[in-house]
Amino acid sequence: AVERTFIMIKPDGVQRNLVGDIVSRFEKKGFKLVGGILMSVSQDLAEQHYAEHKERPFFGELVSFITSSPVFAMVWEGENVIATARNMMGKTNPADAAPGTIRGDYGISVGMNIIHGSDSPESAQREMALWFKEDLTDYDKTVN
Ligand code: CMP
Repeated sequence: AVERTFIMIKPDGVQRNLVGDIVSRFEKKGFKLVGGILMSVSQDLAEQHYAEHKERPFFGELVSFITSSPVFAMVWEGENVIATARNMMGKTNPADAAPGTIRGDYGISVGMNIIHGSDSPESAQREMALWFKEDLTDYDKTVN
């Protein structure tokens, strides 16, 4: 089915000038960019985004990293994009991520792992609503 997913290039990816490469990978794969913004992340947004990790020992680290400098937040659309984007990103820990994946090619550590992508249709819905306030459903009407 045609889906939408939330993808975010983390501060390390932006600082290392990987935005163009990452956007290009998704474009070449055939997915459609339907939203994108370079933005600073507030403490509140970071805590909401990572709410499911609140009890983890690394939660503080996670929030301080994601708020440390701008991220590039996006919404991508396409057939099976949620799972396919996860495959293109590679395993969470770059040490385990296969060559050819984004984290396998560029990731340094599990904390600084370049990119985030929704892991299910439910998280995609939740994260798109959290990060993109405006309704993106009329995208085709605005560009055509
Ligand atoms: P992400 O997909 O953004 O969602 C949760 C994040 O927690 C994950 O990517 C990792 O960057 C981060 N993470 C997971 N395990 C650890 C860990 N042991 N230490 C620091 N960060 C972690």
